[in-house]
Amino acid sequence: MAKEYTVTLKESIRVNPSTHFLSFYCPEIALNALPGQFVAISSNQFLKRPFGIAQVDKDKGTFSIGVRIVKDGTRYLATSPIGTEFEVMGPLGNGFSIEKDRPLLLVGGGTGVFPLRFLQSYAQEHSIPFYSVNGFRCVDDACFIDGERNSNCIVATDAGDFGVKGNVLDALEMIPFDMIRGSTVCTVGPEIMMKHVASWAESKGLTCYVSLEKRMACGIGVCLVCTCKTKSDKEPGYENKRCCKDGPVFLSAEVIW
Ligand SMILES: Cc1cc2nc3c(=O)[nH]c(=O)nc-3n(C[C@H](O)[C@H](O)[C@H](O)COP(=O)(O)OP(=O)(O)OC[C@H]3O[C@@H](n4cnc5c(N)ncnc54)[C@H](O)[C@@H]3O)c2cc1C
Ligand code: FES
Repeated sequence: MAKEYTVTLKESIRVNPSTHFLSFYCPEIALNALPGQFVAISSNQFLKRPFGIAQVDKDKGTFSIGVRIVKDGTRYLATSPIGTEFEVMGPLGNGFSIEKDRPLLLVGGGTGVFPLRFLQSYAQEHSIPFYSVNGFRCVDDACFIDGERNSNCIVATDAGDFGVKGNVLDALEMIPFDMIRGSTVCTVGPEIMMKHVASWAESKGLTCYVSLEKRMACGIGVCLVCTCKTKSDKEPGYENKRCCKDGPVFLSAEVIW
């Protein structure tokens, strides 16, 4: 059963004009969260809002999320002063299945790079080789904290004003296949991007995990608002799964897009 905590906002970093990176004090979530899991957090709106966990600091007892301002709930979160208290449920859902003897290819689009940041830290901690490809619409959309980047990272922007001009597929094609042979692909971002990344991975014979983002209400598998269809051998050939409880991470080969 998911636990609920009252947490305090400890840090709020403006990442770009519409995105903030927020850190909250909650030692239990910092200790128990796995890459790919998410939290549901209160705002000034009725329902809690879901966000992929972007970072944990077990020593400081904090977890972080990246929040893009969409409407009222996200605007409230992104503009709240340090010290504001929130109700948080988490960690929720199933994260990425990671085989420690396989390299990772992390493909993020927009705010999808935040949950992958947690997976990247996990890879570094466990000496798992990784390569990352991050796509944004333009430089003002880029989600790097303090301008951080590493040498295993390609950035692509549709506008071409930062990194490679094009999308993540264009960037993926630039990587010599020998560098990513045998990798597990993990992708988070807009659904259309993940669908294309999944079919690219399939064409290369690579296993791919996708993190689906459906509208959510309860966040704990009760209301069935967040269902998605996955393949099944049984009639009628598909199964309804709950994105919040059975996902949000699914093997791409299971997903009916
Ligand atoms: C598993 C998961 C992880 C996510 N991780 C991130 C993240 O790391 N960073 C980030 O910026 N955003 C993330 N989102 C999207 C984020 O939850 C929505 O942008 C946010 O809920 C919008 O709230 P709002 O009040 O501003 O907008 P409103 O449109 O007013 O929200 C109304 C309702 O719709 C739901 N909703 C709206 N947009 C979405 C959406 N795209 N996906 C799911 N539910 C939505 C809200 O939860 C709320 O119940 C994630 C969504 C899911 C499902
Ligand atoms: S949000 Fe209620 S079942 Fe998923």
